[in-house]
This record gives sequence, C-alpha cells and structure tokens, in this order.
Amino acid sequence: MAWGACAVNAVALLVVMVVAVVLAGGGGGGVHCLEAKRSRRELQQGRFCQCSISFEKDEPFWQEMGGAASGATILELRHHGGGYSSSGKSRGRSREEEVGGLFSSDAARVSSLQRRVAAAGGGGGGEQGMKCAPCASCHDQQDPLFDPSSSPSYAVLPCNSSSCDALQVATGSASGACGGGDQPSSSSCSYTLSYRDGSYSQGVLAHDKLSLAGDVIDGFVFGCGTSNQGPFGGTSGLMGLGRSQLSLISQTMDQFGGVFSYCLPLKESESSGSLVLGDDTSVYRNSTPIVYTSMVSDPLQGPFYFVNLTGITIGGQEVQSSGFSANKVIVDSGTIITSLVPSVYNAVKAEFLSQFAEYPQAPGFSILDTCFNLAGFREVQIPSLKFVFEGNVEVEVDSSGVLYFVSSDSSQVCLALASLKSEYETSIVGNYQQKNLRVIFDTLGSQIGFAQETCDYI
Ligand SMILES: *[C@@H]1O[C@H](CO)[C@@H](O)[C@H](O)[C@H]1NC(C)=O
Ligand SMILES: *[C@@H]1O[C@H](CO)[C@@H](O)[C@H](O)[C@H]1NC(C)=O
Repeated sequence: MAWGACAVNAVALLVVMVVAVVLAGGGGGGVHCLEAKRSRRELQQGRFCQCSISFEKDEPFWQEMGGAASGATILELRHHGGGYSSSGKSRGRSREEEVGGLFSSDAARVSSLQRRVAAAGGGGGGEQGMKCAPCASCHDQQDPLFDPSSSPSYAVLPCNSSSCDALQVATGSASGACGGGDQPSSSSCSYTLSYRDGSYSQGVLAHDKLSLAGDVIDGFVFGCGTSNQGPFGGTSGLMGLGRSQLSLISQTMDQFGGVFSYCLPLKESESSGSLVLGDDTSVYRNSTPIVYTSMVSDPLQGPFYFVNLTGITIGGQEVQSSGFSANKVIVDSGTIITSLVPSVYNAVKAEFLSQFAEYPQAPGFSILDTCFNLAGFREVQIPSLKFVFEGNVEVEVDSSGVLYFVSSDSSQVCLALASLKSEYETSIVGNYQQKNLRVIFDTLGSQIGFAQETCDYI
C-alpha cells in the first residue's frame, strides 16, 4: 500500500500505495500515495508529479503538478510514515517496538486479505477515498482538505447509481445508507468502512473532475470521507489500484489503457520511486528486459492481482516443494513481508539455513522466525532469492529484500519472509521483495511484467 513509512530503515515501503489501498479494507494491489511534495519536476520526457492528484478547482487537494509533455503520466511515490500515527509519535519508541508494531499491522493485513480472498464475492477493494471537508479528526493531514463546496463540478452520487451498486457489492453491501433498501433511491450513497484495527472511513460516494498531471478525467468516482481514522497517516487519501470497477485504473481506461506500473525505492526516506500510468515503457529506467507472466483470472472478480508462483531459488538452488503446484499468489504493494504457504516457506527456510549455516542463529522476531546474529561479521554473503512465475519468468529480489535488520547493531537479522498459518491460505508477494523492480500491471493484456530498475530517483 502501499508504501508506507519512512521512519525506520528497513521498513518497507508501504507504499502508501499509491496508492492504494483501497478504500475498502485495504486491499489489493496498491501503493499508498505518500505525502505530497510541492516541488515540480520532470522526469525524462514524462511528467513527474508527486502523488499529486488534484481536483479541478480552487481547492487543490491533491495538488496538480504535471507538466506538458507527452508520454506516460508519472507520479512520484514516497514512503509513507508507517502505521497511522504520524511520524512524531514514533520517536520515543525503540526500533524493535516500531518494527514490531509494523509487523503486527502487516500480519493483520495479511489475515484480512485471506478472509477477503476466501469470501464469496472476493470482498471489495480498489476504490479510492479521500478526506473531505468538513472532516472530523483529519488534523494530521498536511495538505489542505478537499472542500467539495468550492468545486462546482462536484456531486454526490445517489443510491440508485451504478457506482453505488458497485460499491455495495465491493464492500459487502449493507455497509451504507443504501444497504437496507428502504432508503429513497435519490438519497446519497454513503459508506462506512471499518477495519479490524479500529480504523474506519465514513462518507459519501461522489464524483468530480479529476485532473491528474494534465489529464482530465470527468466524473471520477471516489469516496469523500468526512470521518476518517486509520491507515491514512498524514496523507490526503488513498488511490485505488486494484482490479475493481471503481479503481483509478478502471476509471482511466480511456486515458491509460488499464496499464500502470510502479518502482519502489530502497531507501525509505529522502528518495522517491515512481508510479507510471499508461503503457509507455520508454519512461522506465529498467536495466533488464521486461519479462511477463500471465495473470490468473479471478472468477470472483476480486480486487487482487494473482499470478502463479512455480518455484523459488535460493542462492541459485531450486527449492523443492509440492506447494508450488497450484500456487496462485497475490502481488500486493500494501503488504510488507512476503508470506508463503507453510510447505513452501519451510522448504525455503531449510535451504536458506543450509546456505547460511556459518552464521549464528538468533531468536525469531514477530512474524519472522529465521534470524541470525550478524554482529561480529564485517561481511556477509547473502544468498540470492529468486521467484519463478509461470512461463519460467524469473524475478530476482534485490539483495536488500532478502534480510530484515530488526536491530540496528545486526544482532538480530532475519530472513524477510513469513509463513502463512495454513496450506489453504494464499501466498502474498509483499513490497519488501519488490524494491528496485519495475512491476507492470497490464490489466487488459492480463499479464504482470517485471524488470530490474533502480528506483531511487532522488
Ligand atoms: C434514481 O432515482 C431518481 C428519483 O427517483 C430518478 O429520477 C432517477 O432517474 C434514478 N436514476 C437511475 C439511474 O435509476
Ligand atoms: C495457474 O495455475 C492453475 C492451477 O494449476 C492453472 O489452472 C492455470 O491455468 C495457471 N495459469 C493461469 C494463467 O491461470
């Protein structure tokens, strides 16, 4: 989600995914849009904006920054300060406490994704929501709130609109004012989303003219939340990049052809990655050719992007596990640590332990159970980690995505992969293992592409 946070060094990107996350329960495929920056810059021939989306009119809520230029629309991605508390709060905590908190939220996200994958209908997700004035408890937002009253093109959608239907389906109906069926069809389509950790967003479904780096999208549908608490941090809202009817990707099909890609930077602070809308591959800075694997279609039409994981190699050694047959996995930018079904995880762990045997082990930490004490070592040879997706598509994880430094003195450094609870759950490729990769989601071509790219643009 999205990339989140910057605070600690190794914390993953949560992208606030750009987006991403979906209004509904934080799901599928997203990057959070991190904080908006004010500088205007151009990246190659494309437009480089900052997570800046703005509504046409006086209240630049997501600020418009684009330039002219042709080519793809490029948004800058920045790491979002992890969790919901804004950065200041975390200062008094130790690194371990901070990482522990981050991993608990990650675990909660993973279980919530599991429930949504399992639920009939797939659950919702993929929509975007933003904070709107007048807003209760939106004090942490750095940019001005979007004020609908100052935008003549803004309108709330009624209960009988098709978008409201889509939202009800996505969020499991009865969550909004239209859910009961006893509301007049002309009343506003309101929604309430609550998350397991107590956060929520409440508001109405609305539309407005969206100006995105120079492209104007009329009638763009989003949730206008006047009561929000949760994983929004200091951001203005969430952009939905999932596979749902109301996601940004679906709503900008005419402009961007259903293609987007992101590149998540290594460093959490003082560097930015990019979110590219559109299929112009010339704006990427990939250093290896793009390799594509087919998306696995989801009969339930959920917001998730699935691909088949057919193998994993550690240090060039193929890991043997029966769990690779029929192993459809979710590629998610909002989950930090990649979680694998137990059979696959255990096989990977065993192979890693055998190749890393010269280093003393350390106690596990939170969701990470394979840890080492590397404090006395000046140099450590880290085995490579490669995912193999259907079609023999090999994707090497950046070396920074193999280990997680829990303690800053290297006395507790863990394999940055986690085990799911059961074989019946769905593995998730998280953002910690997607750093320095261009990951391309081609929703019409039904394929996901990968290429190595150095993502730190600053
Ligand atoms: C929604 O209901 C209003 C009021 O009953 C009606 O005028 C309008 O045509 C309806 N719209 C749709 C899309 O059914
Ligand atoms: C993925 O794996 C499933 C189960 O083995 C198979 O049915 C499917 O054809 C594979 N590929 C895609 C693109 O769905």
